[in-house]
Amino acid sequence: MQVRSLAGFATYLCALAACAAPSSAPQPTPSTATAAAASAAPSDPYHPPPRDTVDAEMYNGWKQYSIHCARCHGDDALGSSFGPNLVKSLGPTGEISTRESFLDVLRTGRKKEGMPSAAKMGLDSVYFEGLYRYLAGRGSGQLKGGRPARAEQ
Ligand code: HEC
Repeated sequence: MQVRSLAGFATYLCALAACAAPSSAPQPTPSTATAAAASAAPSDPYHPPPRDTVDAEMYNGWKQYSIHCARCHGDDALGSSFGPNLVKSLGPTGEISTRESFLDVLRTGRKKEGMPSAAKMGLDSVYFEGLYRYLAGRGSGQLKGGRPARAEQ
């Protein structure tokens, strides 16, 4: 009898204090914290939401651009002090107005001017088409820049 009532008392205590406290006390805090985090997310300058959604081929083109080309041609293909702006080059009035002329530069490079060939960069030709489509998209204004989202296939 005594054991039973002790156990009952323990349950009663638990309900009153120790077990009830964790579930009821912190409730107001997480809801306000979540709201603050949610409203802060879009203004995070390091993780802006993607503006463009592209297919897998184009997404890989963007990735390869970031790996091989951005160091000379700049973020978003906007150029640097060393490499020309490819948004202009592949744009409506640019020098690289066709897919063929683009592939030609990529295959042979312009060694004397500082543009390496794809082979020299270690860029696999399976990515040529995606790279071209990504840069042509930047040139035409279809792609706004930044990290694109990859469409669900
Ligand atoms: C080591 C630096 C460097 C890297 C890496 C590089 N480029 Fe270049 N690229 C240049 C330079 C410099 C030129 C300008 C050559 C000239 O004056 O004709 C150029 C020119 C070009 C042109 C011709 C632009 C025009 O208007 O005539 C294209 C297209 C191009 N690069 C694409 C790429 C792509 C795509 C990649 C990545 C796969 C890449 N480049 C990587 C330096 C680089």
